Amino acid sequence: MSRLIHSRLTLSSFYNRLGSTWRGRCLSTESSNIDEPIKVEEAETVNEPPPPSDKLLVLGGNGFVGSHVCKEALNRGLSVASLSRSGNSSIQEPWANNVQWHQGDLLSGSSWKEALSGVTSIVSCVGGFGSNSYMYKINGTANITAIRAAAEKGVKRFVYVSAADSGVMNYILQGYYDGKRAAETELLVRFPYGHVILRPGFIYGNRRVGNMELPLGVIGSPLEMVLQQAKPLSQVPLVGPLLTPPVNVTAVAKVAVRAAIDPVFPPGIVDVNGILRYSQQK
Ligand SMILES: NC(=O)c1ccc[n+]([C@@H]2O[C@H](COP(=O)([O-])OP(=O)(O)OC[C@H]3O[C@@H](n4cnc5c(N)ncnc54)[C@H](OP(=O)(O)O)[C@@H]3O)[C@@H](O)[C@H]2O)c1
Repeated sequence: MSRLIHSRLTLSSFYNRLGSTWRGRCLSTESSNIDEPIKVEEAETVNEPPPPSDKLLVLGGNGFVGSHVCKEALNRGLSVASLSRSGNSSIQEPWANNVQWHQGDLLSGSSWKEALSGVTSIVSCVGGFGSNSYMYKINGTANITAIRAAAEKGVKRFVYVSAADSGVMNYILQGYYDGKRAAETELLVRFPYGHVILRPGFIYGNRRVGNMELPLGVIGSPLEMVLQQAKPLSQVPLVGPLLTPPVNVTAVAKVAVRAAIDPVFPPGIVDVNGILRYSQQK
């Protein structure tokens, strides 16, 4: 099938093709970016500890979302490594000593590929803001490079923390969203059965900035409750996506780790409602 899929394949056409041959494996969410969402039964949670040989690499494991992913994975008994340009985390908590911290830049050289050794699954939390070309590079090119290297090394599963469409903001932050979608498309091609794309809106929780902790939950948590009630408005074109409810960083981390290690977690796009639903499962 990969010969049929060339680099300009869109998400919609891929899922239409995949859906026709593999209906029943993709998680249906309320994302509007797939032409025909495929409704299926959700997988049952497998609550067994992972095999001791499972090793998770978190790309951007010292960032806001990445550090929560590392912590969640350690709690689940995984062997955990992180790769980022600055390497070690500034987090002074005991769990951080149990992460293998690698330093490397996905956009430069190839020595960072050593971090892929023995890795069975990856969660990528690499992304960022800046000029349009920088945003494309960091959200798109850096992740595409990682996805290709991971596929070549035989990594089994790859989870990408992407982002929900945000209506009019898509035009203002064009490099950010173009980069996200380009990385998603590469993931579909290289990991047709081992990919999961998380598309949260605003993620809240305690974000560390230098030595300070910003409690983003003060805004995010009440907003999440309000916007959960405003679901019908989210269908309104352009403005609707701005009403995507925020989601707690611990929920994103929980779903990311499960998607990375649970072999029956269906491949596909998981939108904010999917993230909330999966995170509430035991
Ligand atoms: N926070 C939100 O509200 C939100 C909402 C929706 C989606 N997301 C997405 O979720 C992901 C994580 O967001 P976040 O808020 O946790 O961001 P963050 O705190 O800025 O973390 C980004 C991580 O990527 C690493 N990184 C950046 N460029 C790299 C490169 N070239 N090579 C290796 N590592 C690199 C950074 O570490 P170094 O700087 O040390 O390299 C950092 O660990 C991003 O993709 C973001 O777009 C976030």
